[in-house]
Amino acid sequence: MPTKTLIGPFTQLLPMSGLPVRGALKDAAITVIDQGGILISEGQILKVATFKNLLPEADEVQRIDQEVVGIPGLVDAHTHICFGGSRARDYALRNSGKTYLEIAKSGGGIWDTVLKTREATEAALVQGVVARSNKHLKLGVTTLEVKSGYGISVEEELKMLRAIKTAHAQTAADLIPTCLAAHIPPKDQPNSPGQYLQELSEKLLPQVKAEKLANRIDAFVEESAFSPKEIEPYFKTASAMGFDITVHADQFSTGGSAIAVKYNAISADHLEASATKEIELLAKSATIATALPGASLGLGCEFAPARKLLDAGAALAIASDHNPGSAPMGNLLAQASILGAFEKLSNAEVLAGITFRAAAALNLKDRGTLAKGKKADIVAFPTGNYQEITYHQGQLQPCAVWKNGIKVL
Ligand code: NIG
Ligand code: FE
Repeated sequence: MPTKTLIGPFTQLLPMSGLPVRGALKDAAITVIDQGGILISEGQILKVATFKNLLPEADEVQRIDQEVVGIPGLVDAHTHICFGGSRARDYALRNSGKTYLEIAKSGGGIWDTVLKTREATEAALVQGVVARSNKHLKLGVTTLEVKSGYGISVEEELKMLRAIKTAHAQTAADLIPTCLAAHIPPKDQPNSPGQYLQELSEKLLPQVKAEKLANRIDAFVEESAFSPKEIEPYFKTASAMGFDITVHADQFSTGGSAIAVKYNAISADHLEASATKEIELLAKSATIATALPGASLGLGCEFAPARKLLDAGAALAIASDHNPGSAPMGNLLAQASILGAFEKLSNAEVLAGITFRAAAALNLKDRGTLAKGKKADIVAFPTGNYQEITYHQGQLQPCAVWKNGIKVL
């Protein structure tokens, strides 16, 4: 018989289970188990109840001797942590008043990172992803989505996706790869954006499948990247091949969210420019709306209309967008807490957005709550009151993290 391990007691345990994926959430809806325990076996949760009630069933106990609040391991559903170089220059230029387009034209922007990422060896990319993943893990993030998208050619995108796969084996965090070859059109090819996308459909996507490098694809639908019309054939092909679709949508101009909904995207991410029409559309769809406050903080612009999205009935996930350009901070809890303060989100909404709603944005059903059968991904914060978690805006950091039942912090 496999060993049953009891972890606890947690002064407060928030399983975050039994809550809806869509719509507004009041804190009163959260179940708080005082002096809670989690019974686990072989990396999975068997039971969640009071520590005292679970004690007779346990073969062994991992006793916690301090006040802690336990919540599900955090899920960061949108990152670009595979990259070379730095864009500190872009940040300084933006803050001195230069626009995104001016910076891109003067050698900065996404293309600058493409050149630096192409220069990097696959091994160097692996090292970067592992180091950044481990930093996220220390901050309680047990699952991270990681995009390619700085290769912008078939071979360079494959290099990135292979690096992400190798990195996954070298960190305790789970990395969920996404092919973002449709990030921007290549600047070094005479081909039109449409021809580039066709090349991706014909050469890259079959190889991504063959090597099992990703089962998700993403595209940046924006005036400076791909238009809705350009991206449609690519989404059709990817969808027919069985890829899940996610979209960088409505960041500076609208159009992306409508295309996301049309192609049944799992999530539409960014949404800073979304207005009433887009909010209504997302609320009526099955597509998860993912806010990326780290990009708003990095670019110094509006947050996505998180409150309006929730009130309209949309599902709201919150992710870090950790990338060298628009979101260099890479602290999911800090960013989600700050979004909560600006957008008037309850603790329940913030925590849902970085746990089970974020898992839904990655189409993952095996994590995001503390419930029977889920992965034993748990994060403990050194406090006796869960309200302290968002209150400290990221400065209250985990004192313990379990990934698949193994204590990694
Ligand atoms: O999510 N918006 C497009 N892509 C990224 C930015 C990547 C970059 O600037 O390097 C984003 O913000
Ligand atoms: Fe992004």
